[in-house]
Amino acid sequence: MNGRDLVRSVKAFGSAGAPQGLRTVRAAWRRRRTDAIGLPARGAERARVPGQVQDAEPAPGGGVVRFSRSELRIVVAVNGAVFWGWDGAGPEPSYALAGRCPEPDPRAVLEPDKDGGWRVVAERATVMVSRHGAVEVRTPGGVTLRRDLPPRWWEPVAGGEARWMQRSEVAADARFFGLGGRASGPRLRDGTYRLWNTDPGRAFGPGDDPLYITMPVQLVVADAATHLVFHDTSWDGTVTLREGEEGAGSGHDRVGMSELRMTGGPLRCWVMVGTPARVLLAWASLTGAPALPPSWALGHHHARWGFGSEQEVRRIVAGYQERGLPLDAVHLDIDHYDEHQVFTVDQERFPKLPQLAGELLRDGIRLVSIVDPAVKAAPGNAVHDSGTAEDAFVRDAAGRLVKGVVWPGEALYPDFTHARVRAWWGRLYQERLAAGFAGFWHDMNEPTSFNAFGESTLPRSARHALEGRGGDHQEAHNVYALCMARAGYEGLRELVPGERPFLFSRSGWAGIQRYGGTWSGDVATGWPGLRASLSLVMGLGLCGVPYSGPDVGGYDGHPSPELYLRWFQLGAYLPLFRTHAGLRAGRREPWEFGAEVLEHARVALVERRRLLPYFMTLAQLARRTGAPYVRPLWWSVPEDRALRDCEDAFLLGDSLLVAPVLDPGSDRRAVQLPRGRWYDTATEQVYEGPGQVLVDAPLSRIPVLARAGAVIPVRGDDGGIELEVWAPARGRSGGGLVVRDAGDGWDEPEIERYVARWEGRKLVVQREGEDGLSEPSHPVRLRGPGAR
Ligand code: NOJ
Repeated sequence: MNGRDLVRSVKAFGSAGAPQGLRTVRAAWRRRRTDAIGLPARGAERARVPGQVQDAEPAPGGGVVRFSRSELRIVVAVNGAVFWGWDGAGPEPSYALAGRCPEPDPRAVLEPDKDGGWRVVAERATVMVSRHGAVEVRTPGGVTLRRDLPPRWWEPVAGGEARWMQRSEVAADARFFGLGGRASGPRLRDGTYRLWNTDPGRAFGPGDDPLYITMPVQLVVADAATHLVFHDTSWDGTVTLREGEEGAGSGHDRVGMSELRMTGGPLRCWVMVGTPARVLLAWASLTGAPALPPSWALGHHHARWGFGSEQEVRRIVAGYQERGLPLDAVHLDIDHYDEHQVFTVDQERFPKLPQLAGELLRDGIRLVSIVDPAVKAAPGNAVHDSGTAEDAFVRDAAGRLVKGVVWPGEALYPDFTHARVRAWWGRLYQERLAAGFAGFWHDMNEPTSFNAFGESTLPRSARHALEGRGGDHQEAHNVYALCMARAGYEGLRELVPGERPFLFSRSGWAGIQRYGGTWSGDVATGWPGLRASLSLVMGLGLCGVPYSGPDVGGYDGHPSPELYLRWFQLGAYLPLFRTHAGLRAGRREPWEFGAEVLEHARVALVERRRLLPYFMTLAQLARRTGAPYVRPLWWSVPEDRALRDCEDAFLLGDSLLVAPVLDPGSDRRAVQLPRGRWYDTATEQVYEGPGQVLVDAPLSRIPVLARAGAVIPVRGDDGGIELEVWAPARGRSGGGLVVRDAGDGWDEPEIERYVARWEGRKLVVQREGEDGLSEPSHPVRLRGPGAR
């Protein structure tokens, strides 16, 4: 345990801090001893490379290429994704895949190539294997997107898990994105990024890495094509990236480089090639469609660690209501637990929680509960006792329970890599539902334990079921939160079959979107934290996790009124729009920053509510296509270099471009526009892209531009849907989709398609159906000069 953790646990436990501190030190020693026994030293290692090609054997979708010291299995799947695995690794078992591995594409065949190599030609990519085991992915037109050099393994002579290294080259113009939630992105610059889900233990800023969600998922954007590569290995590792450099016609391009080093696990990967939209579609078909949040979860949420009582919750809600500010959900943090124990309620301070929940629901406000995985190691606590009866908790190699320290003190960790444990955990949400909660916020699930020797998690030797295969925390750590999300999601589906579960999780891994979303975690209050929040949302979206958002105002300290407002204005356009802060932080209610901020925050809240049908459409499209709601400006023009490097603005769906203010004292900002005509939605001023323009960004709003021709579903004054139609340029047409919310259950809503075009001087909007064009199903509001 380091000094910081000691201070933290002393603060958290108040007068109980001293004995807790001592217990913590003892726990830390236990951990060190556990690893010493449970993880034998690696000893001497032997290096290995694949060697020379020997022969090859075709199989459906590809085949196996044998080398003198390894073999490579290649499968092209029907969704167009290409799999390859070394040393006999196949696509299963995998925590990332949504189900079974997709069927092989029978059209893809392994055939001999020149120089003793082999190749598999598929519809969207060609994979070339050299006789030494370099693997190259090319576009159908023959341009190289990625070249993996022959991998290298280091195997302990005495046996055990091999560590390995895979170096890859990408085009000189390529840019890297992804790797989960990174504070310093979304474009990942030269440096080393770790793949180990980590609670940084304090509010983080752009320099902190890794954070809570890491993923071996890289999205690489180059002129020739975009590709996503996913190394399906949950072990600890690092990715070192170096962007390439173009020789400006001199012929001396320097390729980009990515070097993945893993401490164990199979060397296997999936590659998807195409446009960003195609790549994300293939990724979602592999790892699962993003869960569709219930409609209320697309509204405004207010949270705080330390409401402390039902009266305070009522006071805050009344504060919103008296001021006419929309509010859709209130989140209760661990202070509503009984002595910080999960699945309990402090009956003194929250004596009538179901009644409170009922009152709030009548006003359309849902209660969301924090859920921590660690269970207080105290017999008599119902969760502890039922978990013990289930043999649910993680043990060490000697069979002893692994005890960490979290908010409730000494705690045990459910082993979510076991189906039986997931089922037990899932049933526990019944207590939350009975207390009136409608949504769930998974926290501390990296998993975190405060008792660390430089590391805040379980000992690496801790044992896990890993679905019956058995293994240790080195393999289970990064998928712990993913499995917890699965437990919660599946439990809720059993308990409330008619409703879509709402959960979001601090930690996660590839595939977390199947169960819910995430949030930025404890982002530091400050302008760099504001920027980091956008980086996280964009980066996660490109890894297939479309629903996330920051703690508006930052997690710690006291934002200035200006910073709070700019954060609020950004948050209003992100999928999860939530104000939240830590125990000792300043207040985050919109009225705490003066009358001017309140008025501008009101505008943002009202606009968010007005845009709800658009957010629902984006959520529905994310589920169907994997496309994130928040997209980088290059989404549909990845070859536009200026857009590729632009990180301070984003597209919200196809129709809106949001340019948040990320610096103090600005009342104008530069915006890099994609091709076409754009309208400032506040002033209807017209801008023509591509190119950079200066737009007004007064304190009252951030610039939001609408694409000419966009048809955007918005909420009208009567609560029904209206179509806001932005005039296409003369001689051009436009359109848009509306996917209505069909309640918070599982009914499939209809997709409505609209077209907008000029008939002479008249702008006409029509619905497109199988039987041709018809009148729109909603009132239409024309926008843009000359449209009315
Ligand atoms: C850490 C979470 O990141 C934060 O949001 C929460 O308030 C605290 N845990 C207390 O539960």
